[in-house]
Amino acid sequence: MSERILVAVAWPYANYLLHVGQVAGAYLPADIFARYQRLIGNEVLMVSGSDCHGTPITVTADRENVSPKDIVDRYHPKILEAWEKIGISFDLFTTTLTENHYETTQDVFTKLLSEGYLYTDKQAQLYDPESDRFLPDRYVEGICPLCSYKDARGDQCDSCGAQLDAVDLIEPRSIISGANPEIRESEHFFLRLSAFEEKLREWVGSQNHWRRNVKNFTLGVLDEGLKDRAITRDISWGIPVPIDGYESKRIYVWFDAVIGYLSAAKEWAASNESPESWKAFWEDENTRSYYFIGKDNIVFHTIIWPAMLLGYGNLNLPYNVPANQYVNFSKGQKQSKSKGTGNWILDLLDTYDPDVIRFYLTSILPETSDSEFQEEELIRSNNEMLIATWGNLVNRVFAMIHKNFSGEMPSCNNISTESISLLSEIDSAFETIGNAYAACEFRTALRESLRIAQLTNRYLDTRAPWKAIKEDPEHTAETLNISIQAISGIAKLLHPILPHSTTELFENLGFDSEDIGKNWSRNSVPEGTRLAKSKALYSKLESD
Ligand code: MF3
Ligand code: ZN
Repeated sequence: MSERILVAVAWPYANYLLHVGQVAGAYLPADIFARYQRLIGNEVLMVSGSDCHGTPITVTADRENVSPKDIVDRYHPKILEAWEKIGISFDLFTTTLTENHYETTQDVFTKLLSEGYLYTDKQAQLYDPESDRFLPDRYVEGICPLCSYKDARGDQCDSCGAQLDAVDLIEPRSIISGANPEIRESEHFFLRLSAFEEKLREWVGSQNHWRRNVKNFTLGVLDEGLKDRAITRDISWGIPVPIDGYESKRIYVWFDAVIGYLSAAKEWAASNESPESWKAFWEDENTRSYYFIGKDNIVFHTIIWPAMLLGYGNLNLPYNVPANQYVNFSKGQKQSKSKGTGNWILDLLDTYDPDVIRFYLTSILPETSDSEFQEEELIRSNNEMLIATWGNLVNRVFAMIHKNFSGEMPSCNNISTESISLLSEIDSAFETIGNAYAACEFRTALRESLRIAQLTNRYLDTRAPWKAIKEDPEHTAETLNISIQAISGIAKLLHPILPHSTTELFENLGFDSEDIGKNWSRNSVPEGTRLAKSKALYSKLESD
């Protein structure tokens, strides 16, 4: 029985190149999950896109004296290039600039307004008297009221990760003129979050499969009491408010960005078989939706977006929000593109094969606490884990079969208990490792797969087929046959993490993509199969 799974991934701002922290925080785990789900035969829709509105884009555009659209046109293709190269298998990666997205956003706005979940009110806003304009979100910086970090931005503190309100910054300063802003009133639309507090508390409280930190953090925010939030801004770049009299304002970027999950599903459906097919992913209660995000985005996905969905009605709430912690740099500072530090994923992809990066990043995914990225560690993990445990195993077995059996899969006539027990270990690993993938515990999935590879190495060492070949060729044939079956199983177990190299390996084992397609079990390699004589799947890396 196949299930339907929506894989919703945070929309990156199209204001710079993607850094490694973003890839490890959201896109790689989402991709591993989506690939696993497809492999077990589920129907997956994986969507996201470039987040193109708001002050993150306009601040960058202002600084360079170009239009916001120019910024998007420069970085959106770079983001697509990164997905292509590292193999993030989106069904659709769009942008928030499409007509469909504007319509969907305005429809949600209008519906919430008519249901009484939006209202207008006056709000105190920071105003720059020198450049004569309001200073929403990132147009102002100052001291974080929570952690005292001195360069917090109006929307968010990069040090403690808290979402902020510009008026709460201590010693605020305009990033346009440096002026000390004054406070002026402005009329805005508010989302009546307070109306959803009880419902959300009940819903979140019953999500026992959520990561503990995600659940506790959300319950903590709910315990402080939900305050209604302004969802329009005094800014000219963004989606127009679909109500007369508000022409000088735009919808707040976060309000439109989260709606992207819904609009992208509609866009995907419109360009595929049936324009109504998005409904199965949004309206069928059996569909489960997973949101892959970094921890600084939690409130938007566990409170604000669910409130909007409840207000709109008849759309699925998130099933899980497996938010990750941060990937730090060796020197301990958080990766931040607005501060110009970080390792850009495209730069890494110029140097390393995608699976080498995926392997290392999976081993350090910040699933339960912050982790640290170090390029020397990437090299070490390639040499001492990926190759030593897995790559060499494949090479050794292929080489012995080419040397002693002219590249043809040897037969296994009498199967020994040690062979049976190796294969049964592997077959039962499909269940445990499958459970780890399904629970978004990808580090565990990787570690367990490597443990199985290690068992296979030990099996091979114990049976020493290179020695047995002289006195007992049958014994050697059995060992190599069983080792190939094991390799086929491990390749399947690792496929969601290492799709490029395992696909190549499957081809070398004589399978086509249909064969490995939709089953979560070991594909057995028939006796007599011609094994391709190919170069090693991975190569050793030197530090320089
Ligand atoms: N652009 C935001 C960021 O980079 C994430 C938006 S996620 C979505 O932090 F919910 F808006 F889609
Ligand atoms: Zn802070």
